[in-house]
Amino acid sequence: MGSVSALTNPISKSSLFHSKLIDHSLNSSFTSKNLSFLRSGSQNLQLRTLKNSCFQSNAVKNETKSSQVSDVPILSLTEAIERMRTSRENFQSKQHYLAMYSSIFGGITTDPAAMVIPMDDHMVHRGHGVFDTAAIMDGYLYELDQHLDRFLGSAVMAKIKLPFDRETIRTILLKTVSASNCKKGSLRYWLSSGPGDFQLSPSNCPQSSLYAIVIEDQSPSDHKGIKVITSSIPIKPPQFATMKSVNYLPNALSKMEAEENNAYAAIWLDQDGYIAEGPNMNVAFVTKEKELLMPKFDKILSGCTAKRVLVLAEGLVKEGKLRGIRTGDVTVEEGKNSDEMMLIGSGVLVRAVVQWDNQVIGDGNEGPVTQALLNLILEDMKSGPAAVRVAVPY
Ligand SMILES: Cc1ncc(COP(=O)(O)O)c(C=O)c1O
Repeated sequence: MGSVSALTNPISKSSLFHSKLIDHSLNSSFTSKNLSFLRSGSQNLQLRTLKNSCFQSNAVKNETKSSQVSDVPILSLTEAIERMRTSRENFQSKQHYLAMYSSIFGGITTDPAAMVIPMDDHMVHRGHGVFDTAAIMDGYLYELDQHLDRFLGSAVMAKIKLPFDRETIRTILLKTVSASNCKKGSLRYWLSSGPGDFQLSPSNCPQSSLYAIVIEDQSPSDHKGIKVITSSIPIKPPQFATMKSVNYLPNALSKMEAEENNAYAAIWLDQDGYIAEGPNMNVAFVTKEKELLMPKFDKILSGCTAKRVLVLAEGLVKEGKLRGIRTGDVTVEEGKNSDEMMLIGSGVLVRAVVQWDNQVIGDGNEGPVTQALLNLILEDMKSGPAAVRVAVPY
């Protein structure tokens, strides 16, 4: 187990990693040849070429560019970092990366060019990592401890030894958000079996790694009712669907399938044909009997937002807006014939579904319970109890 001092003092492996890079940068014949090449006036063309080859997805453009990258330069550490900085600056994104923690260098950086992870990290080439998130709202982390519990549970399922104890990980996450100065955005963090080699077994990865990043999200939130489809991409088996590992290929393909069909998300059914979840959200329904109905969490990810919604919905039962709350098996017929359907998750919060495949849900508008639950979650994020709002020590 490490300590918080590791936050500022690079761990021994990080200096080894660093010296290897320096050694490479001092490889005189390649470097000096390359430097003279760069000074020869072709520098601008080369920089432009690298930039374009990184970020243009258009196939025709890529073909043209790849023929232009006829000479691939050998870069020193400084040159590589400069190019990383240039490519980041030229990549227009709505999201800004404000701070990153890495246990590899044992500290926090606010320079996006340094926000990288080692290529031989088992998480990169074998998908051996787990992750989680927490929203940053008005300088508070929402449901940090609930997400952290799930994160550590996922690490146990993925057999990843913790590099630090829970309290240290929590402190590192809070310090990373503090360093970012971000008041509204999201925190994402990963545990990996760490760098070592490119083998399948992590037995030569001596130290698991922790990474965290703070993202300032400037996109305006949209609460309009949306359309979903049934996913044709198979759902992950329960052992993998219940852990938040980095193996999100089925999830990404499912989201792409939705986008190809002008839908927001594709909904998975489980191995028995019951309604499961979306690619990064849970689902819930309001039945004709005014019951809030949610698929149980034994074969899907146990959503922190969905679990909070189940608690907050009790208030709607008291007010008479709901007759009851139930989790269990939900058939497609029940779901499609419900009065209201909603998506629930940290990203989407609570979002009304007004159409599933060809079936209009309810009267085709955002339902009153969905709207009430969205308001309750927004209120909870802004002024909920200390159990769900952790103040960031800026
Ligand atoms: C597959 C899956 N289901 C459900 C959720 C919702 O979980 P949470 O509310 O904790 O964000 C997520 C969140 O990322 C997810 O990836």
